[in-house]
Amino acid sequence: MAAQGWYAPSLLDAREAGLAQWPTAEIVRLLKTGHADRGTVSGPMAEVVLHGSQHFSDADLSAMAMYLKALPQALATVDSLTSAPRAPGRLAMAGEQLYQDRCASCHGEQGEGQPGAYPPLASNRAVTLARTENLLQTLLYGGFGPATAGHPRPYGMPPFTQLLSDAEIAAVLSHIRASWGNQAPEVSPLDVHTMRAALAQTLPR
Ligand code: HEC
Repeated sequence: MAAQGWYAPSLLDAREAGLAQWPTAEIVRLLKTGHADRGTVSGPMAEVVLHGSQHFSDADLSAMAMYLKALPQALATVDSLTSAPRAPGRLAMAGEQLYQDRCASCHGEQGEGQPGAYPPLASNRAVTLARTENLLQTLLYGGFGPATAGHPRPYGMPPFTQLLSDAEIAAVLSHIRASWGNQAPEVSPLDVHTMRAALAQTLPR
C-alpha cells in the first residue's frame, strides 16, 4: 500500500482504525456498502469493498465484524489523556477562512458533516491520525468511496491540487486537525510538497 502512497491504519489501535468501540452493525455496513456514519473507505480499502466484501454473505460479514471488534486495542497513552488542550497554532488559524470558503458547504461550519452524504471532520480519526499520507491524498486528489449495491451513488470529494498552494493546503489541514475538539499536530507546507512530489512519480495523472 505504501507504493500507492496510502497508509494502512492499525486495526489494533482505537486512535487509528481499531473497531472495538463500533457497533457490529456499523462495521457490517462499512464492509458491505463502503459507507458508515463514522467513516468511509477510500484508496486501497475501497477496492477491497468493491471487489470483495460487498459480495460476502451477511453471516460472513457479521463473523468478520465480531473478529475485528475483538482484536486487542492499544491503550491511549496517559499523556494523551491528561495533557491540556493545545492552543491552535499559526497555520491552523490561517486555515480557518479557507475552511469556511472551501469546505464548510459540505463538511459543515463546525465540521459536523451531513449524515449519508458528507463525513464529519470533528472527532474523525481519518483527520487526526498521526500519519498524514491519507489526509493529503484526499485533499490533493479527492475522495471517492466505492459505488456498491448497498450505497450506489456516493458523493465525491473534489480534488484541490490545482486550486490550493502547498501553504494553503497545510493551513486548512492544520485547521481541521486542531478544531472542534480535534487535537493533532500541524501539517507543514513541506509535508504537502513532499507528498505531491512522491505522487507525481508513482501515479499516472
Ligand atoms: C463538494 C463537497 C465537498 C467539499 C467542498 C469538500 N469535501 Fe471533503 N469530502 C467530501 C466527501 C463526499 C467525502 C467522502 C469521500 C470518500 O468517500 O472518500 C469527503 C472526505 C473528506 C475527508 C476524509 C474523511 C474520512 O472520513 O475519510 C477529509 C479529511 C476531507 N474531506 C476534508 C475536506 C477539506 C479540508 C475540504 C476543503 C478544503 C473539503 N473536504 C471539501 C465532500 C467535500
